[in-house]
Amino acid sequence: MVRKGMKIVITGGAGFIGSAVVRQYIAETDTTVINVDALTYAGNPESLGDARAHPKHVFEHVDITSRAALERVFREHRPDAVMHLAAESHVDRSIEGPAAFVETNVTGTHNLLEAARSYWSELESAAKERFRFHHVSTDEVYGDLGPEDPAFTEGTPYAPSSPYSASKAASDHLVRAWHRTYGLPVVITNCSNNYGPYQFPEKLIPLMLLNARYGKALPVYGRGDNVRDWLYVEDHARALRHVLAHGASGRTYNIGGRCERTNLEVVHALCTILDELVPDEQGAYARLIEFVTDRPGHDRRYAIDDTRIATELGWQPAESFETGLRKTVQWYLDNPDWVERVRTGAYREWIDANYGQRGLAV
Ligand code: NAD
Ligand code: TYD
Repeated sequence: MVRKGMKIVITGGAGFIGSAVVRQYIAETDTTVINVDALTYAGNPESLGDARAHPKHVFEHVDITSRAALERVFREHRPDAVMHLAAESHVDRSIEGPAAFVETNVTGTHNLLEAARSYWSELESAAKERFRFHHVSTDEVYGDLGPEDPAFTEGTPYAPSSPYSASKAASDHLVRAWHRTYGLPVVITNCSNNYGPYQFPEKLIPLMLLNARYGKALPVYGRGDNVRDWLYVEDHARALRHVLAHGASGRTYNIGGRCERTNLEVVHALCTILDELVPDEQGAYARLIEFVTDRPGHDRRYAIDDTRIATELGWQPAESFETGLRKTVQWYLDNPDWVERVRTGAYREWIDANYGQRGLAV
């Protein structure tokens, strides 16, 4: 499903992964992107870089919990595909306040599916067959693994642990049901932990990086022996574009970085790069590591078996953890303005001034 001059609705395109996908489509293809984003605390138009003002980028300030607004977007823009990334995405926030996760991740996905189905059902037959609804999900829907367990495959039973992963699991089930029941052409991807430029500093890597730079404690949950499989965000964005273009309708693809690390290994690797690039006269950054109370229900280990996407679609990550982490640290060091505006919340003032008075589109 790769055609010249395609039009794709991308939800969550002002977030960390969504903005990487938008930047790639705009820089490397002639695709028109309709960026549907409510600009929650996690959405930041500054993360779009040059793509933001490009004529092939159209921003729709829309909340996916509004079905009417989504129906208008489909009516007005008549897309060839949808890539759905909008979500509440942070596990710790889901523990503090699960309601927003159910609203956006479950109800919002339901609205998007219904708006897409209503639009799709009226397309002529060739366009109908070509249409894709690409649902972007997480490996966390599979629950967690013991140290010796085989990695998650697409057939691993769902066993989510947190309100976040439970809401994502629910959304995956809805997408599958819309395919099976209504024939909506869907693809689902379940990806491991991402890291890279423009990630909001509530997640492990940017939080540790910025805390270290500001001489603050590096709060490692529990013993720091939980394992994640890390993927550089530009690799994930490429994988998503590849699956949308070549994935089979109704199929799920796991995406991973072939890169399992304990949290403590990640934090030490980060500190070592910082020691080299911006040495601190008070000593090695690892001195700032502090072990803090564990996250409730903390998943022990995630690991991805990427055989399907590798063999069927010929995709594999380009970046190793070492090269990706170095690029990430360098990016945060080179972009103090973005960091400072996010850290101080100054970007919110701009969003409130620019979008607050306009309100959300319906
Ligand atoms: P993010 O939190 O950085 O961005 C989410 C975006 O969605 C923001 O721009 C936000 O404004 C927007 N959004 C939130 N609620 C919305 C609503 N109701 N209506 C419209 N827009 C809304 O998230 P991310 O890390 O970029 O993750 C994107 C997707 O990828 C999510 O679906 C997430 O579950 C999935 N995922 C993330 C990771 C990861 O490591 N970050 C890994 C695997 C899968
Ligand atoms: P996170 O980036 O929140 O992603 P997820 O929970 O979706 O995997 O956390 C990654 C790992 O790092 C997870 O095991 C929790 C741990 N962690 C800490 O030890 N300290 C922190 O301050 C944060 C935010 C996470």
